Amino acid sequence: MKNYVIESLPDYFKQYKKSIKNPKKFWDKIADENFVWYQRWEKVLKHDMSEAKIEWFLNAKLNITKNCIDRHLSSRGSKHAIIFEPNNPEEATQYITYQDLYDRVGKMANVLRAQGIGKGDRVCIYLPMIPELAVAMLACARIGAIHTVVFAGFSASAVAARITDCDCKLVITSDGSYRGDKKIDLKGIVDEALKTCPSIGKVLVVKRTGSAVTMQEGRDEWIAPLLDAAPVDNIPEIMDSEDPLFILYTSGSTGKPKGMMHSCAGYMVYTAYTFKNVFNYKENDIYWCTADIGWITGHSYIVYGPLLNGATTVIFEGVPSYPQPDRFWEVIEKHKVTQFYTAPTAIRALAKESTEWVEKHDLSSLKVIGSVGEPINDEAWHWYNDHVGRKTSPIVDTWWQTETGGILISPLPYITPTKPTYATLPLPGVQPVLMDDKRNEITGNQVTGNLCIRFPWPGIARTIWGDHQRYKETYFTAFPGKYFTGDGALRDEVGYYRITGRVDDVIIVSGHNLGTAPIEDSINEHPAVAESAIVGYPHDIKGNALYGFVILKESGEGRDRDNLRKEINQLISEQIGPIAKLDKIQFVSGLPKTRSGKIMRRILRKIAEGDFSNFGDISTLLNPEIVEEIKNEKL
Ligand code: WTA
Repeated sequence: MKNYVIESLPDYFKQYKKSIKNPKKFWDKIADENFVWYQRWEKVLKHDMSEAKIEWFLNAKLNITKNCIDRHLSSRGSKHAIIFEPNNPEEATQYITYQDLYDRVGKMANVLRAQGIGKGDRVCIYLPMIPELAVAMLACARIGAIHTVVFAGFSASAVAARITDCDCKLVITSDGSYRGDKKIDLKGIVDEALKTCPSIGKVLVVKRTGSAVTMQEGRDEWIAPLLDAAPVDNIPEIMDSEDPLFILYTSGSTGKPKGMMHSCAGYMVYTAYTFKNVFNYKENDIYWCTADIGWITGHSYIVYGPLLNGATTVIFEGVPSYPQPDRFWEVIEKHKVTQFYTAPTAIRALAKESTEWVEKHDLSSLKVIGSVGEPINDEAWHWYNDHVGRKTSPIVDTWWQTETGGILISPLPYITPTKPTYATLPLPGVQPVLMDDKRNEITGNQVTGNLCIRFPWPGIARTIWGDHQRYKETYFTAFPGKYFTGDGALRDEVGYYRITGRVDDVIIVSGHNLGTAPIEDSINEHPAVAESAIVGYPHDIKGNALYGFVILKESGEGRDRDNLRKEINQLISEQIGPIAKLDKIQFVSGLPKTRSGKIMRRILRKIAEGDFSNFGDISTLLNPEIVEEIKNEKL
């Protein structure tokens, strides 16, 4: 474990230095000593940053599920791989051992094969947070099919857009899902989505809520009888290191969502290594990440990272406030959770409740607590540290992205001294650089700039599905030769990083990345709307909330404004999902634009924030007078 586990701060600096001096040697050893391969690689890394072409462990052969499951069976067969905590606390917890997981994944893999799914086929998974979700992903990986999990809060048209973009053959869904005291009709959403998806030949349905569903003859089938009849053993597909493992969609600042494609070997090595070190994972720990598996955090740190390390991972179906605002703390106490990983938006919501809710529970099992998804503000950091970490379990503020596959910047617990709101230091193999707007590297400390990464790490996404040009343009052209993250960052006097937020048109609402363009596109489809612009403004629980500035067509001007607001949000809900609804909608007669017609969001952002000072020079605008009007009518 010499190269796999970082033991102390001096060891971190030593490993870091080694990883930068000779990255290939560094990752070669880690890959060699900690995984099972059918065939070793011929070359560790081949890359060309200007073409956005990155390959790791070339020509190696593997199957990630052998590493997640099979190899643990002899020593950990009866150990819990998954603890499933249902939405309703009255419902029994499910304990799934590594042996059970092997059986369930084998059966599901055989069911998929029997449906004609094979290597390279795309399978859409639209499921709530139930064990079948992890099982379905692993079953795809087992047979070499590419899973694309769609967050079960997305609307029918968002599901359809994703299925169409990567041309899925089959969907795995459920009759419904539970969220707190609500039941959601997932199958109905899939039915609606499939009206426009001719590529789908089959829908397999998991029974969860028992709600009535319509099953389309020949297309839809309950999965349970198929699983019952399927054999357990399944010989894994032999995958090339660079074969796709999954596609996961993330918002872009423009146009349609980007299908980030991750490949088998690099993703495996990177998520396993970072899980072990960032969470200081030890055998017999009980690890819990509250993210949804529909996001990258769930992929890497509920499913793959933990299972690769033979860990016990908790899958929680519910919400933090149900049945009461102490559900998180209750679950930690119940399962004696040792690592707890959640998002600032959840922390802020729970910090609003009386501290009695958290004090009521014994959280002494916790060793490490983590944060991910957006910058954690000072107040939330301290509340988390004082009440959940009890000033003894360090906070790991982990910075990373769907595109990066795994955590890039984070403290190592009990090793890196933490600092409130700072993600602190890069992990070994990660070379952050700050760049100014003129593309010059900013050296030294106590500086801020655009955060880029200078050299590839094994977990980086390989492409945008079906659009390599877009991948190259989005991430590798703003700062030639470097990967551009889209985030701004500050480097303090000791070299610690603090992520300051997005520098592009992506807005993070309750930890969900939302691009402005797709939301504006939906608003503009409303028959009464001529044009719109949305910006984020600070919100004490969600981090950011959305503020829309909408210009009406003449035909819309006589309409009741509150009804229009409802209709616009309804449209957004249908086309994207309720997460993208606007908190405020202001009707305006124009939008501030540059002479080339570009909307000056910077000004709109300031107005939405209520900061009327220092708009900068607005005299170069096409229509400077509009600023005054918008300001005066601010909601
Ligand atoms: C933001 C989530 C500050 C950031 C894993 C990034 C963070 C985007 C942090 C990616 C953090 C994530 N501190 N900001 N610890 N973690 N972000 O793709 O803006 O859903 O670019 O991946 O979230 O969001 P994504």
